[in-house]
Amino acid sequence: MTMRDRALRGRVIAVTGASKGIGWAVTQALTAQGARVIAGARDVGGLQLDGAEFWRLDVTDEASVDAFARAAVRAGVDALVNNAGVGSFQPVEEITPAEYRRVMDTNVLGTLLVTRGLIPHFRERYARGEGSQVVNVTSDVSARTFAGGALYTASKYAQRAVTQALAYEGRAYGLRVTEIRPGMVDTFFAGSVQGAAHKAGWLRPDDVADAVLYALTAPLHARIDEVLLHPVEQDVVF
Ligand SMILES: NC(=O)c1ccc[n+]([C@@H]2O[C@H](COP(=O)([O-])OP(=O)(O)OC[C@H]3O[C@@H](n4cnc5c(N)ncnc54)[C@H](OP(=O)(O)O)[C@@H]3O)[C@@H](O)[C@H]2O)c1
Repeated sequence: MTMRDRALRGRVIAVTGASKGIGWAVTQALTAQGARVIAGARDVGGLQLDGAEFWRLDVTDEASVDAFARAAVRAGVDALVNNAGVGSFQPVEEITPAEYRRVMDTNVLGTLLVTRGLIPHFRERYARGEGSQVVNVTSDVSARTFAGGALYTASKYAQRAVTQALAYEGRAYGLRVTEIRPGMVDTFFAGSVQGAAHKAGWLRPDDVADAVLYALTAPLHARIDEVLLHPVEQDVVF
């Protein structure tokens, strides 16, 4: 048994956006190492994985988030991975209110709602002497932007701000918070095709899952605040 197995066996971790891409890789990696995963996404039809419990979750919908949070609490969740997200790229002059709401509601409000749903439980865990973790998958563009990126990067800057505020607040109830900031990852992101030739050198979902597991398996005295990772073929950017 590896050290990671020991750190993950018996743990219960809620993962949003678990149906494909990075979230699916995180769910697979966690269950493979003995964790139980409460896995949520809007389309979970037909998904099956030993150790994972799939829930129909729309992170923008309060009732749906409440049901997911209740399931996670019933299972004894000790960590949350906020990964659900959408991408949308266009110049400022083409951003519509409807698209603004779709992106902000998913990437920002979704992170807030799911996290808020678990905080009372994290506080109870703290009262019993147990800490908890939140890992937010934001992006390398949570702190820089580019032409065509106004809407998406605004949502990721905001998600970073939520992550950092939560880290300050969570110290009072034993919460360790991590921001994972990947560069280009070969997934289904923004309606793209996974495995397309031009993505051959990009990060794989497993690379990001590794970073998430690094944060989740940090020793109890260590807090991984942030992980920034890029494919070598991407420009060096901070
Ligand atoms: N790919 C990249 O280059 C890249 C780089 C940096 C950061 N990221 C971030 O990584 C995260 C995961 O993206 P990905 O690349 O893995 O994209 P993906 O392959 O499109 O997967 C996105 C996941 O989010 C779920 N999702 C979307 N809207 C949702 C909602 N309202 N409620 C619940 N789940 C929802 C999707 O499932 P359903 O559609 O079934 O709900 C899917 O499971 C996102 O936050 C993204 O911003 C991606």
